[in-house]
Amino acid sequence: MRRKLVAGNWKMHGNHRANAELLAGIIGVRPFGCDVAVCVPYPYLSETAVALAGSDLRWGAQDCSAHEPGAYTGEVSAAMLAEFGCRYVIVGHSERRQYHAETDQLVADKAKAALACGITPIVCVGETLAQREAGQTEAVVKRQLSAVIHALGHCAGEMVVAYEPVWAIGTGRVATPDQAQSVHALLRAQLGAATAHAGDMKILYGGSMKPDNAASLLSQPDIDGGLIGGASLKAADFAAICRAAG
Ligand code: PGA
Repeated sequence: MRRKLVAGNWKMHGNHRANAELLAGIIGVRPFGCDVAVCVPYPYLSETAVALAGSDLRWGAQDCSAHEPGAYTGEVSAAMLAEFGCRYVIVGHSERRQYHAETDQLVADKAKAALACGITPIVCVGETLAQREAGQTEAVVKRQLSAVIHALGHCAGEMVVAYEPVWAIGTGRVATPDQAQSVHALLRAQLGAATAHAGDMKILYGGSMKPDNAASLLSQPDIDGGLIGGASLKAADFAAICRAAG
């Protein structure tokens, strides 16, 4: 039985006061029966690490550089994230692919850089609405995942995958449990062809997961948790999703 993981993706939200309240709110309702993490903006990693120290909650970042430390103004290396105790880093989020023109290869390189520093990459894949309507969902997610599998080689089993249909992110339009499960099943089959550990790997669903739809999504056999955007900014909602997972 795979232990579920619920990871909050704060995106570009937060300030010192709101973060402290949110983290205290989550800590206050522990323990959960699943792994729980928050992926916060870089400047807040330090205070998050302090707030969560000694708890079973984990933290991470929302992106990292594909490069070794060097002359890359504005970038943050995976080695730096490791110094802040990051357990996870999200790579290939659709907002990065869309607004920063991140390619499948760049996402794969970022995942590799993270693993090299002992950080688990949460690799996001997902189709746009136009791609879904054109019947391209399977081809798109397979192409995105295949680049990462190829780059990670024998370490592919160490990543977490997040299926995030772009049309469901921040829109309130959630994939049905059947829609999500069918993509998760094909992602697991693809992982199974590449690694003996596919049965132990976590494949998260992300895209408008909320307290009222979490249980039905999380009861699907290949949905091993959630990557939560909007609902991760309210302690009560996030905690409710964590409870649904565990
Ligand atoms: P959402 O975001 O839960 O607000 O749809 C999910 C994500 O982008 O990771």
